Amino acid sequence: MDFNRELQRCLLPLGQAYSLPAHTYTDESFFYWEKRASFEEQWFCLGLAKELPNCGDYVLKDVYDHKLILLRDEQKQLRAYSRVCRHRAMDMAACPTLANQNSKSDISADKGNISKIICPFHRWAYDINNGQLQQSPHAQLSTTQQEIRLPEYRLQLWQGFIFININGLAGEFPKQLLVLEQQLSQAKISHYDIHPNTTKTNYEGNWKLAMEIAMESYHHIGAHINTFQKVSRASSTYVDHGNQRYAALINPYCKNIDRSLGPVKLDLFPPSSIEQHYQGFVYYALFPNLLIGSMGGFFDINIIYPMSKDSHVVEAFLLVPEGESNNPGVATILQQFDTIEQEDAALMQAWIKGLSSAQATQGPLTKLEEANWLFYQYLLSSLAVKNTSPISLQEV
Ligand code: FES
Ligand SMILES: [Fe+2]
Repeated sequence: MDFNRELQRCLLPLGQAYSLPAHTYTDESFFYWEKRASFEEQWFCLGLAKELPNCGDYVLKDVYDHKLILLRDEQKQLRAYSRVCRHRAMDMAACPTLANQNSKSDISADKGNISKIICPFHRWAYDINNGQLQQSPHAQLSTTQQEIRLPEYRLQLWQGFIFININGLAGEFPKQLLVLEQQLSQAKISHYDIHPNTTKTNYEGNWKLAMEIAMESYHHIGAHINTFQKVSRASSTYVDHGNQRYAALINPYCKNIDRSLGPVKLDLFPPSSIEQHYQGFVYYALFPNLLIGSMGGFFDINIIYPMSKDSHVVEAFLLVPEGESNNPGVATILQQFDTIEQEDAALMQAWIKGLSSAQATQGPLTKLEEANWLFYQYLLSSLAVKNTSPISLQEV
């Protein structure tokens, strides 16, 4: 079967649709196509506004071949710039031997506070408020300094999350997020604090695997038989609302569950309005790369960054109720997540082996994988793959 025909099979109505062809996880030219169409031409998540509370705060962010710096300027505006110097194209953050981390212009640490950005190579200096070149020692430039500036990207804030658009041509944001937006704003997600234990982890495997594994709870019956499955049964999970921008995956709690008991203890904080509404925990996937979990009165945030066709980075944040950042009980939550993450990591390794094998085939998607199916609608519409039969997307 030709590749386009295989892709079209993912667009069939759920019940007849198939999983993505293995090539979409392993092929270099597919990755090249996908990173442009599904990331650069779209809005994707690049972090949380609360990572940068003060003027001058910055964080470094990498997405495959983009080297970016997010910062809050002197007027409190959030900005996303390239951090590749406009002189000889050096990554200004990547030279720790020249670093002076006490300086207010050094960006060699992952995050910090600066008043300008200075390139350690020849000390060209850039203004944090507009990216303009401010100083270029000993240089006789044929262009004026004002004409030289760090490329800046469109940035949008939504529910405390930062989204950017690299090519500058994505449509208005947010769109088609109606119920999702209502539920998150009712739960006041932007009022939650970021717990200091945030992590950034490199993983093997294509980025879509990380998204897809989080988007279905069918595998509670497999990898999480001793953890999640004891709290919420795989067979009871469902997508309550979604479209080709996002999916809301509901995991109803088992009847009579005691939230204070293991293996997943969920009683540290009062449940959010989302958990109360569904009597369960919820994972929202906002395509292409943001996962928001609401459980145990906290939010589990994962942002997925593709790095190459077979590697990705996951940035994980725990959002806790205001003032609870130092609550010692959070250590238990982190331990639980560690166990669950190890269960998923083992699964992922085996999955990568199968997908890279000569025997990998597309398999039928079940009803329990509806969120994955919605994710495929996003991916394939961004790749302009046309379906041959009508798509019946669940309407909001
Ligand atoms: S490469 Fe940055 S100043 Fe020369
Ligand atoms: Fe999992």
